[in-house]
Amino acid sequence: MLAIDDIDVYYGPVQALRGLSLTVGDGEMVALLGSNGAGKTTTLRAISGLLPYRSGSIQIAGVEVRTLPAHKVVTAGVAHLAQGRELFSELTVTENLRLGHWSRRRHRGEFDDRCAQVFDLFPRLKERVHQAAGTMSGGEQQMLAVGRALMSDPTLLLVDEASMGLAPNLVEQLFDALAAVNEAGTSILVVEQFIGMALRYTQRAYVLAKGTVVLEGLSSELANSEDVVGAYLGHDSPSEPASA
Ligand SMILES: Nc1ncnc2c1ncn2[C@@H]1O[C@H](COP(=O)(O)OP(=O)(O)O)[C@@H](O)[C@H]1O
Ligand SMILES: [Mg+2]
Repeated sequence: MLAIDDIDVYYGPVQALRGLSLTVGDGEMVALLGSNGAGKTTTLRAISGLLPYRSGSIQIAGVEVRTLPAHKVVTAGVAHLAQGRELFSELTVTENLRLGHWSRRRHRGEFDDRCAQVFDLFPRLKERVHQAAGTMSGGEQQMLAVGRALMSDPTLLLVDEASMGLAPNLVEQLFDALAAVNEAGTSILVVEQFIGMALRYTQRAYVLAKGTVVLEGLSSELANSEDVVGAYLGHDSPSEPASA
């Protein structure tokens, strides 16, 4: 589904990613971890075609991202849930979902089906279809942001710290929703500050430091080697929501 091989990414003269490689297989849910500034957001932006990579390759279902304009990456089946919700706060729930469906607007008739699937995952949104996004609670806005990303029926979903600012019970709900999306066949690469939560819900994980992968493996194994994870992630991560 996704294969990144040895990429370098720069912001002007500053190198943010150094020889980074990772893969996400068909139907996999993979965590991308690392402390602040490690390069997680940069990695997702490079995958989405929003940042150029100087060397190496990024392939999505065998297509080199460098050859696609950023909007074509969406058409290629990638949805990017960016850090910060970036909703249109003046627009209603339905209008925000409509924007998420933009890349597939020619598929008439599909919109209502996609909405129904989103409302299955997040019933609270259905009760609020005519409400302006900006007037909803933080948790509801985050559900809408996830829902909007799913409107394009992505084959690969990139999620950047979607749990930020959510109450612990909502973080668990968010991960349950992502797991349901994954079960339905969408591959997911998830950047997450709650390491324990991310390792519980994913099959594999990568840990980044200074723009490169320093640790990778099965999530279940990484979760059991907390010393190793602690060494790279520090002890500054927020306290974890308790598992149900
Ligand atoms: N727009 C930018 N301009 C210059 N440097 C940036 C920019 N965005 C991020 N960086 C730098 O790139 C590195 C990786 O950042 P980022 O990918 O945002 O890390 P993370 O998401 O893991 O916290 C950091 O050193 C950061 O300061
Ligand atoms: Mg980030």
